Amino acid sequence: MTKKKIGMIPGTGKQSQGIALRLAQAGYKVMIGSRSSEKAKTIVEELNSKLSVSSFYGDENKEVVKQCDILFFVVPPEYICSTLEDLGSDIKTDATIVDVIVPLTFEAGLAYCSEDMCMEQFDYPSVSEYIQATVPEGVTVVGAFKTISAAKLNRLNHPLDVDVFLTSNSQEAKNELKEIIFKIEGLRVLDAGPLAFSRTTEQMTAFVININKLNKLKHASFRVISAASKKQK
Ligand SMILES: NC(=O)c1ccc[n+]([C@@H]2O[C@H](COP(=O)([O-])OP(=O)(O)OC[C@H]3O[C@@H](n4cnc5c(N)ncnc54)[C@H](OP(=O)(O)O)[C@@H]3O)[C@@H](O)[C@H]2O)c1
Repeated sequence: MTKKKIGMIPGTGKQSQGIALRLAQAGYKVMIGSRSSEKAKTIVEELNSKLSVSSFYGDENKEVVKQCDILFFVVPPEYICSTLEDLGSDIKTDATIVDVIVPLTFEAGLAYCSEDMCMEQFDYPSVSEYIQATVPEGVTVVGAFKTISAAKLNRLNHPLDVDVFLTSNSQEAKNELKEIIFKIEGLRVLDAGPLAFSRTTEQMTAFVININKLNKLKHASFRVISAASKKQK
């Protein structure tokens, strides 16, 4: 179990609460961030009472960034630029950012991966690559949890039984995160290559939203199937 501090920027949204709850069920302590320390503390109380634990604690995003080594970035895509402007200089220089953000747009009821972010034409191929190019040197970005819905994560009495795809230019960061996520029941962690493949996982999210809608499915998600490897036999 990692001794590094895990924090959520913010921990108050649907997706971040789902990830935080699953991490706490796996035995981790999680710091909940928000733009408002009061809101963070309210959500901390709710999450602790939901699991009957004292695994959650919280404060303003700025404090989370100062204190934590592994930072889940779970802001709406339109606010990632302003969030990095506000918090960027406080991020620890050896921190890992776990980017969960998916920029989506909807046309005629279908989801598309957006070319815009922060209300502007986006010059980077993916959110993960934008964050990696923007944060101070030494900070490593890993894309993860982009393809798993908040609805699925928050159904705590239902098995997850899905794959998490990790993208990063750092094998070390991927290995570290793999060890952390491995403890969450029902999640298999798959290495999905460098950050250049983050756009693929962002597009997969639009794809699965449309699969759900067009086929009247609920909670469709990704599980890669393969022949058993020699090791697994
Ligand atoms: N929902 C899903 O199923 C899902 C799946 C995959 C990925 N994601 C990604 O996860 C991220 C969050 O999605 P969500 O559904 O959890 O959203 P959400 O429930 O709407 O929560 C987003 C949080 O963002 C913060 N926020 C709102 N306005 C902000 C601003 N102007 N600047 C900075 N922070 C602001 C709020 O926190 P405070 O008020 O506490 O600061 C809010 O609790 C998105 O990037 C999304 O693409 C979501």
